[in-house]
Amino acid sequence: MKTLDLPNLAQPASTVILGLMRIADLDDEQIRTLVRTAIDHGINTFDHADIYGGERHRCEERFGEAGAISPAERESVIIQSKVGIRPGMFDFSREHILRTVDESLAALRTDYLDTLLLHRPDTLVEPDEVAAAFDELKAAGKVRSFGVSNHTPLQIEVLKRSLNVSLDYNQVQLSITHAPIIASGIAANMVKLDQSIDRDNGMLDYARLNDITLQAWSPFQKGFFDGVFVGDRDDYPELNDALDEIAAAHGITPTGVAVAWISRHPAGIQTVLGTTNPQRVIDSAAGGGVELSREEWYRLFTAAGHILP
Ligand SMILES: NC(=O)c1ccc[n+]([C@@H]2O[C@H](COP(=O)([O-])OP(=O)(O)OC[C@H]3O[C@@H](n4cnc5c(N)ncnc54)[C@H](OP(=O)(O)O)[C@@H]3O)[C@@H](O)[C@H]2O)c1
Repeated sequence: MKTLDLPNLAQPASTVILGLMRIADLDDEQIRTLVRTAIDHGINTFDHADIYGGERHRCEERFGEAGAISPAERESVIIQSKVGIRPGMFDFSREHILRTVDESLAALRTDYLDTLLLHRPDTLVEPDEVAAAFDELKAAGKVRSFGVSNHTPLQIEVLKRSLNVSLDYNQVQLSITHAPIIASGIAANMVKLDQSIDRDNGMLDYARLNDITLQAWSPFQKGFFDGVFVGDRDDYPELNDALDEIAAAHGITPTGVAVAWISRHPAGIQTVLGTTNPQRVIDSAAGGGVELSREEWYRLFTAAGHILP
């Protein structure tokens, strides 16, 4: 497992993160097994959000109730959560941020978050309010580092003008098949080509220029929660041929190759898994330790239907 030295964290972070968005219906033993499997295979970072699980804080609560992380090992893991989505609106008000973090800490049964992300851009944001909330959380020792999710470079700049803390992360949707942050730059400057459309205002290069670590959510989904491309030979026959062959060449699974494709990028992108299946966690962790060649990376990219102009 590759690790990354990231700002404001006490330890290197694993390049693969276990996301806990889908654990609401697992029992305590299943949650402990899932988390233990991740830790045993080098994954030390866990991704939550207040909204995961239907009712507010449900997945965080299940993680805490199950005793997934013992008090003795708390300092050896990185726990991340998110705030800012409410039913029918986005809300970056100081009051909402502070109240939600307190609720997340109670649900997770921990005293601090290693990282807090603003989940989706709130166009009614008052950056000074975010700054006040972040300062209070940092001073109280409740949050150690901060970031955003699904934000454009300019939205980050608007926040940065007020903030006294750095924004170290942007969590965005990225898989081999859903890769606009990478694919648009590869097809820059092409008229009449959908792939050329810049949907995020240069997020990838902005992140590299500003030492912002990207985190890839839905790394196995074809698009927005519409099924997994691994093993889907109806929609992605060529991609699955490539996944199978490259997997065999490296002694890992196609699932692992999908992770390796993300971690191969020199921007140092973390992969946020959503699986609840311990074997898939093991397969993914193995992929996090494999370095694909340039030829393999581009073969997967084009086999997924992206073009090289
Ligand atoms: N910031 C954001 O806006 C945002 C949005 C969405 C998600 N997230 C984060 O990203 C994490 C991952 O999102 P996701 O769950 O949509 O992504 P994902 O890892 O691409 O998808 C996981 C789902 O695919 C299924 N699956 C089927 N075959 C699979 C295979 N071969 N390999 C892996 N999974 C397979 C899993 O089922 P099994 O459980 O049976 O394996 C699970 O239901 C979430 O847990 C959350 O932490 C963030």
